[in-house]
Amino acid sequence: MFMKTTRRKFISNSLKVTLATTVGSSLIAETACASVTQTQPSSSAFQFTQVPLPYAKESLEPNIDALTMDIHYSKHHAAYVKNVNDAIAAENIPYQTEADFFANASKLSVKARNNSGGAWNHNFFWMVMKPNGGGVPTGKIGEAINGAFESFDGFKEQLTQAAMSRFGSGWAWLVMDNGKLKIGSTPNQDNPMMDSSDLPAGQAGFKGIPLLGLDVWEHAYYLKYQNKRNEYVANWWNVVNWDEVAKRLV
Ligand SMILES: [Fe+2]
Repeated sequence: MFMKTTRRKFISNSLKVTLATTVGSSLIAETACASVTQTQPSSSAFQFTQVPLPYAKESLEPNIDALTMDIHYSKHHAAYVKNVNDAIAAENIPYQTEADFFANASKLSVKARNNSGGAWNHNFFWMVMKPNGGGVPTGKIGEAINGAFESFDGFKEQLTQAAMSRFGSGWAWLVMDNGKLKIGSTPNQDNPMMDSSDLPAGQAGFKGIPLLGLDVWEHAYYLKYQNKRNEYVANWWNVVNWDEVAKRLV
């Protein structure tokens, strides 16, 4: 999704991960997808886009309810995309790819940083879920997880812990960093591709290429689960799209 277009071909009804663009010492997942144009781009400004939801909003029931999906995708995510594109126009932001945005995140305005993360993170989130997902991953990704975390249960426990211990709003992630799988979390709409050197000690420095991400903002679960983030996280495992996670493993 680093291509500068207002409308793109959605390839094979899924994100096409090309893993090509270098961010610092890391690679960043590149996606190609159709866009939902939020604002009219200027002649040369890069635009963030919103991927079409790859399944019906009710199809993640009962784990994630249709109303939450509708508001999450149509209101929250759409607003992130519109707002970052507004910021690009208003602030004359020069970066031409998402990779450039995130590599320079500490230099961005609060509006541009939060909304660029919100736009990308949610595009990613929709793709790493699917109806009738979940289960125990097999093949290369299963082996990699077992190798890094000793067992799938150990991995699941660590990612759940990262999601539960993120105070307030943020994301929990499985990333690849210099050939190693790591688990961690980021605040607000930050992601592990961002330069977070401006954050306070203890919040900065979780870096890597996302393979799996979990939105733990209350807007992701409050309508169905209210304050029970633990139940949302437990049920979210039932919709993980391991095929998409595996595609990002290189
Ligand atoms: Fe969200």
